[in-house]
Amino acid sequence: MIRKTDFLVIGSGIAGLSYALKVARFGTVTVITKKKVQKTNTALAQGGVAAVFGEQDSFDLHIQDTLNAGDGLCTLDAVKMVVENGPDRIRELVGQGASFNMAGKGKYDFDLGREGGHSAKRIVFSKDLTGKEIEDSLVANVEKNKNISILEDHVAVNLITFSSSIRSGLLVTQQDNICCGAYVLNNRTGKIETFYSGITLLATGGASKVYLYTSNPDIATGDGIAMAFRAGASVANMEFVQFHPTCLFHPEAKNFLISEAVRGEGAHLIDHEGNRFMEKYSPDKELACRDVVARAIDNELKKSGADSVFLDISHKEAGFIRKRFPNIHAKCLEYGIDMTRDPIPVVPAAHYMCGGVATDLNGRTDIQRLFAVGETACTGLHGANRLASNSLLEALVFSHRAYETSVEEFKAMGSEMNITDLELWDESNTTDSDEAIVVSHNWDEIRRLMWNYVGIVRSDKRLQRALRRIENIQEEINEYYWDFKVTSDLIELRNLATVAELIIRSALMRKESRGLHYNIGYPRRDDKNFCSHTLLKKNF
Ligand code: SIN
Repeated sequence: MIRKTDFLVIGSGIAGLSYALKVARFGTVTVITKKKVQKTNTALAQGGVAAVFGEQDSFDLHIQDTLNAGDGLCTLDAVKMVVENGPDRIRELVGQGASFNMAGKGKYDFDLGREGGHSAKRIVFSKDLTGKEIEDSLVANVEKNKNISILEDHVAVNLITFSSSIRSGLLVTQQDNICCGAYVLNNRTGKIETFYSGITLLATGGASKVYLYTSNPDIATGDGIAMAFRAGASVANMEFVQFHPTCLFHPEAKNFLISEAVRGEGAHLIDHEGNRFMEKYSPDKELACRDVVARAIDNELKKSGADSVFLDISHKEAGFIRKRFPNIHAKCLEYGIDMTRDPIPVVPAAHYMCGGVATDLNGRTDIQRLFAVGETACTGLHGANRLASNSLLEALVFSHRAYETSVEEFKAMGSEMNITDLELWDESNTTDSDEAIVVSHNWDEIRRLMWNYVGIVRSDKRLQRALRRIENIQEEINEYYWDFKVTSDLIELRNLATVAELIIRSALMRKESRGLHYNIGYPRRDDKNFCSHTLLKKNF
């Protein structure tokens, strides 16, 4: 059976839902999401959304800070567009019911926070649960909208493109690649369903689960990036993986972030002997950009052999800490750490993909009718390193641009939406797998090899070793993939392996150090040869 929808949105975080709400005025929308609708990386975002509201702030300052963080690789037009449209998009969120910490009585008189790399206070936040506040308000609106269907426990497998799926003799013969939907595993029935759509939006978030240690939830397996690459879209800048400097270090704590806002409110980083060390690395100390802070911590840990460094905010008033960071405070207490008195043990962990599916300023990929927004996309905003709290902002601004552009494309499509002759998923030659252990071994191996060989500090030798291993793993996965019935674990494993390979290959292409990519063999930035985006595209 083919399920038809005007707009297919893959992913239910800030990018997917804010787009869905807008396009729903023009057609039917299906949002597919791997777990429950709220189970997204957005919902875990603590810090906030960067936008110019402060009296001491200006678009120029925000633009300059973004460019500085991006280390020469940002696309200026993307930066300007995002910064200048940011305040409108935040006002829109307020109109949709999201509420943020306020400093005064005016509707937009926000209490603004500060984070690393920002020259002014400009982070709009909701305690330390900003993402949850935004996600909850978007979900509440989406659930009320009769034009939007949300399908939970649905996992996209592959995109469907005209050139690969329309049988001969039909409308399109010598066309470019055009996306017309996706094959999707319904995890409740175990069946693969075929979705036919006018416009498809990838909003599947990031891929930091490709690393052993990460701030991201289990769902962050790079599905959109891998699917788009397989379908023939260009993927850009995958070597720029952002490691967040401060994730909680505790044997029982899985993926818990200690927000940069804690440093923004004055926390110090100290080593295992209680000494501050950031002044050795940057005049901005704890508020240097993330790449600098993460590398500094990595260096301190390698020198001392200690398991972690510590983040200490205990010099601030206890009542303030509890009120400003209720979530972090409560989580730390669960592990016996009272942040009003004790330093918090922290380590860097993979946090954000600056690379992704290459898009233009409207979120368009180089496959027609396929858009990508949010962490899945590489829009040029972040360059070689993302400025803190620019990610929710990018998702909001680009989902708006994608909405405006895709609605125009959708209206121009007319009767083409009648095509129904798509090939259904064929699993006739597959059997149920009895070797789930192979999947979990490969998962584990990929994440370890990425952490050990493709981490904060890289070398060509380690990257080559990682490439050889990932190629073998890819072969195993491919055999497995076509012989056995597809499961969500297998889909995610295949996607992670693809993303891992893309990161490694991109890192090998960049023979310099810039932003988040540091190679000990080429410790300096080389503008003459490498001041450009790294693009990868599949050869068919
Ligand atoms: C944080 O709260 O530190 C994360 C915010 C971000 O990644 O921009």
